[in-house]
Amino acid sequence: MSTNTTPARPEPLCGTDAMLPVPVGILDVREENFNTRTFVMQIEDEDARKAYRWAPGQFNMLYLPGVGEAAISISSDPQQSEVLEHTIRVVGSVTRGIEEAGKGGIVGLRGPFGRGWPIDRLDGGDVVMVAGGIGLAPLRPMVYWLLRNRERFRRVVLLFGCRSPDDRLYVDELKQWQSDEVIDVLVTVDNATHGWVGPVGVVTNLLQRIRVSADRTTVMVCGPRVLNRVAAWSFLQLHVPPEQVYLSLERNMNCGYGQCGHCQYGAKFVCKDGPVFAFSELAGFFALEEI
Ligand SMILES: Cc1cc2nc3c(=O)[nH]c(=O)nc-3n(C[C@H](O)[C@H](O)[C@H](O)COP(=O)(O)OP(=O)(O)OC[C@H]3O[C@@H](n4cnc5c(N)ncnc54)[C@H](O)[C@@H]3O)c2cc1C
Ligand code: FES
Repeated sequence: MSTNTTPARPEPLCGTDAMLPVPVGILDVREENFNTRTFVMQIEDEDARKAYRWAPGQFNMLYLPGVGEAAISISSDPQQSEVLEHTIRVVGSVTRGIEEAGKGGIVGLRGPFGRGWPIDRLDGGDVVMVAGGIGLAPLRPMVYWLLRNRERFRRVVLLFGCRSPDDRLYVDELKQWQSDEVIDVLVTVDNATHGWVGPVGVVTNLLQRIRVSADRTTVMVCGPRVLNRVAAWSFLQLHVPPEQVYLSLERNMNCGYGQCGHCQYGAKFVCKDGPVFAFSELAGFFALEEI
């Protein structure tokens, strides 16, 4: 396997004017489930496309003229620089507009923004990823990156939970990753339907099925607030140090790069200092409010 040289913190494409979106074409749309699609996109301008670098866990602001912008994680393989994938749950005006633009449509893009997963802190250890629902999207680039660099780590585990088998994302890839046995993949659903024979229950129940070597494990969690909270506490109870438990947070975004204050979380900006934080950076707020 080749070594991925993805930089830890790439600069936004737009450089001097991070508020200016660049046009991006939608090359293809894949249906993941009833309300979620993966959009394969390409930056129209060739020079801008070649200049664009990003790291797993970073996000873009996707823009529709006259409608607005939404923060969306990059969900593709960081090694595949020609196209960018965004897996989008259609919940409101911007995401609906992107769905309506569809294949052949054009949207605006600013980014990449934020601090992604701690790829420079994983060597030689175990990695456990925990994803709930659409939270698998920002972890998917991390899975690609770990697969490429697999020999650098000990055990790699992906725990994924969603409401029902029909709510799964990346179904074919999950099956492929499971059958390859290069990483351990466990999928659970809240409600079993359609002859589901896998685990049933919340994703943190899957922790009973794996052995966690606390001192050498790095944890990465992305999901709804309640999952972030329960997963973080579960790993702390297993004695994983708080600086080795990483959470990706969601907050309302506006500028995306630390200028407007919309995403402020205590003294931190989720857009600039996050969205990925070590639990040790959040512990003070964590006790006070739901994260
Ligand atoms: C760093 C970051 C990364 C993100 N990555 C992704 C991603 O990869 N894919 C993705 O689909 N979304 C992602 N989001 C969430 C996305 O930015 C929001 O869902 C956004 O509000 C959608 O914009 P909209 O205009 O379509 O909906 P809005 O008009 O903002 O919202 C419409 C309605 O939907 C509700 N709503 C908003 N978000 C959600 C939600 N997540 N689930 C259920 N209801 C919701 C709102 O409360 C509101 O009532 C991310 C957010 C952040 C901060
Ligand atoms: S979105 Fe403007 S400061 Fe974070």
